[in-house]
Amino acid sequence: MNNRPGVDGAISLNRQEMGMGMMMRRVFAFGPYDDTVAMPMAASYSSLYETSEFCSSCHQEARILENGQTWDYRKVYPDDDPEAFEGGRAVPTQWTYQEWKVWQDGLAADHPDKGRRCQDCHTNWRKEMLPYYKFVVDGAAQEMMGVQRDPQTIHPHHFEGATEKQLGTAAYLEIDAAQEDDELIVTVSVTNANSGHRLPTGIWMRNLILLVTAQDENGNSLKFLRGETVPDWGA
Ligand code: HEC
Ligand code: HEC
Repeated sequence: MNNRPGVDGAISLNRQEMGMGMMMRRVFAFGPYDDTVAMPMAASYSSLYETSEFCSSCHQEARILENGQTWDYRKVYPDDDPEAFEGGRAVPTQWTYQEWKVWQDGLAADHPDKGRRCQDCHTNWRKEMLPYYKFVVDGAAQEMMGVQRDPQTIHPHHFEGATEKQLGTAAYLEIDAAQEDDELIVTVSVTNANSGHRLPTGIWMRNLILLVTAQDENGNSLKFLRGETVPDWGA
């Protein structure tokens, strides 16, 4: 993990070569399975692809302030590891990996979410995607040699991002309303229940806007009296 963007040479993906004479050169292709046999690609196992650290190479980055400037990151990220902020010089532009790590570090060893990696939510087969073979191989490739696997270990080549499916399980919404004389007092709370990082995450310009409207039994909007409103830029 580092704070540099995954561009401009900050990460390099090395593919080792193996040769038996000029004609037998093979370039290894790495992945998370230790039992694949794909000769032309010299498919090989690398434990890196099973970890969240692999994703951090692109989904963790900061702008590093210069000329001794720092900012008070504790106001926004009170629970984070100070080292990740490089003494206040690092201003997050994508903090997804650190957000995930803080969540994981805070879980007890026997918590059901302990050890849940990026891959488990974003590259795993899920019930809603049935039938899963469609996401694994296409056309004639389905008749080629294959290995029986536990569906939990099958990774479709499909990244489920902020889709309706993901968002539907990401948060709980609770609404509490009580009538006081001729006023309706409404309290709404959103709990980040199942996204393995902050909600929303990813690039900094993503926002989550909660719009609450109230109507009477005839469908007429009630007059808004006080409380927070959606700013102009969110309308
Ligand atoms: C080599 C850089 C790189 C690596 C490594 C990487 N990503 Fe990404 N990821 C990107 C880029 C760039 C985008 C934006 C692509 C776009 O918008 O078209 C993206 C987009 C995404 C999205 C949003 C997809 C959507 O629907 O818009 C998710 C979710 C995601 N990545 C998760 C992961 C996970 C999980 C891993 C590790 C298994 C990972 N990424 C590894 C560069 C990377
Ligand atoms: C427990 C499940 C879970 C885990 C673990 C998880 N995510 Fe997510 N992720 C979600 C959900 C749900 C969303 C949709 C909410 C949102 O957009 O912020 C999401 C959204 C995202 C997005 C924004 C997608 C977009 O369309 O812009 C990115 C990027 C992303 N995750 C990357 C990661 C990376 C990298 C990791 C590991 C360091 C990770 N996620 C771990 C559930 C998870």
